[in-house]
Amino acid sequence: MALLEVESLSKRFGGLTANRDISFRVDAGEMVAIIGPNGAGKSTLFNGLACAHRPSSGSIRFDGRDTAALTPESVAALGLARTFQIPRSFGDMTVLENTMVGALLRHRRLSDARRHAAEVLRHVGLADRAQTRAASLNVAGQKRVELARALATGPRLLLLDEVAGGLNPSEALALVDILRGVHAMGVTLLIVEHVLEVVMRLAQRVLVLNFGQLIAEGPPQQIVRDPVVVEAYLGSRHRV
Ligand SMILES: Nc1ncnc2c1ncn2[C@@H]1O[C@H](COP(=O)(O)OP(=O)(O)OP(=O)(O)O)[C@@H](O)[C@H]1O
Ligand SMILES: [Mg+2]
Repeated sequence: MALLEVESLSKRFGGLTANRDISFRVDAGEMVAIIGPNGAGKSTLFNGLACAHRPSSGSIRFDGRDTAALTPESVAALGLARTFQIPRSFGDMTVLENTMVGALLRHRRLSDARRHAAEVLRHVGLADRAQTRAASLNVAGQKRVELARALATGPRLLLLDEVAGGLNPSEALALVDILRGVHAMGVTLLIVEHVLEVVMRLAQRVLVLNFGQLIAEGPPQQIVRDPVVVEAYLGSRHRV
């Protein structure tokens, strides 16, 4: 069943077309990765999916519903959550409080939000940091707080924008395990990721963006051998 259906989506900023005629779908239960060079339009696509801006043309359907009239808050309430490429934690708040911000979407009582947030922190391996100020965590920790806050909103579809960026290899592998756990909980994952080791380990399907356009789509093993993708993006990054 299609959870997300994107049809002929374009987004222009003045004379620049950041997303051009993009069409794809993501089924419930999938783990899909989006790769592509810097400036290819990946974060712009996420902003459109999360209703942070309106598409210039084309349509987005989430769970069968056209999202054109929705706000970031209302699409989150329907079950679409996202993380930001640059972590947006509340630095002076604790890890638990940051996670509660997400949990408050589904829980009106603080005590319920706190209980749910604490459970989410266990899933992302931050339980022992619950009372730590978010700003005092390293990059890997802050990325997990970002993940925890999004997860705490109870999404069916989770968009992760370079959640492994800036992590060392062992931190990235730990993150892969966490994301497998999240997926096993029934959350559909759509990830933008430059770290190919993470893409290869997680994704069942990969979409490749280049200059705002979708230039390839397929299983990861096929994508890394695709001459068009190698030419546009992979180059010496990943030789097979
Ligand atoms: N709000 C905006 N106003 C004007 N131009 C923008 C805006 N947001 C993005 N762009 C431009 O759109 C293009 C795509 O940017 P985007 O951030 O989507 O790329 P990206 O694929 O996420 O890149 P990266 O891998 O570096 O994160 C870039 O040329 C960028 O400068
Ligand atoms: Mg980006």
